[in-house]
Amino acid sequence: MTITLATMADYEGILALHKTYHTDSISPEDRPDGFVTTNFTPQQLEDLIVKEQGVTVAKDDSGTIVAYATAASWDYWSQWPLFVYMIDHLHEYQLDGVTLTKENSYQYGPACVHKDYRGTGLFAQVFRASLASMAHRYPIMATFVNQVNPRSYAAHTRKVGMTTAGTFPFNNNQYYCLVCPTAAQ
Ligand SMILES: CC(C)(COP(=O)(O)OP(=O)(O)OC[C@H]1O[C@@H](n2cnc3c(N)ncnc32)[C@H](O)[C@@H]1OP(=O)(O)O)[C@@H](O)C(=O)NCCC(=O)NCCS
Repeated sequence: MTITLATMADYEGILALHKTYHTDSISPEDRPDGFVTTNFTPQQLEDLIVKEQGVTVAKDDSGTIVAYATAASWDYWSQWPLFVYMIDHLHEYQLDGVTLTKENSYQYGPACVHKDYRGTGLFAQVFRASLASMAHRYPIMATFVNQVNPRSYAAHTRKVGMTTAGTFPFNNNQYYCLVCPTAAQ
């Protein structure tokens, strides 16, 4: 298994994994184990990989992408209404007494692990590699998890120690806002 920052050579593999577990295309049997909701245009995914240097991938021994984690500046994410809402409410969230801002934090996610590799520890490895890749730019990471995705909430709070900073409603869904420091713990 190789865990590395993605390049455009990984574009199709990332997209394939993303589509398999996206809420618009996921199979009914896979849905209870979680889904991703962000839609990317081809240009948005390219910008995330190239300009933001924001996609961490895991490749199995055949080179197939079996996990990814995305991360980028709030300015990048401000193309989506959900993230505009989060930016407007960042001042309501704190980590260790520090109030989140667009400058001291960034947004991680979506993240996804192929079902063959869930429960193996790969999630935590990819998560930590993504965190390390952003640590020189920001002290705080923030993300959101839909409250109807209990597996993702369990993974992020129990496996990698994220803290629940609050909850918020958006577009008829209820979300957790989770935060953590980027410095190695
Ligand atoms: C979310 C995801 C990345 C987590 O990776 P993972 O390898 O499944 O995570 P882990 O198995 O290490 O941890 C998940 C924990 O949740 C538990 N869990 C599984 N199903 C659960 C459920 N329905 N409700 C609550 N907890 C659940 C697991 O048992 C495990 O805890 P345990 O090891 O203490 O038993 C992965 O499941 C995934 O890619 N899901 C589809 C896409 C997705 O939801 N992405 C996140 C969007 S925010």
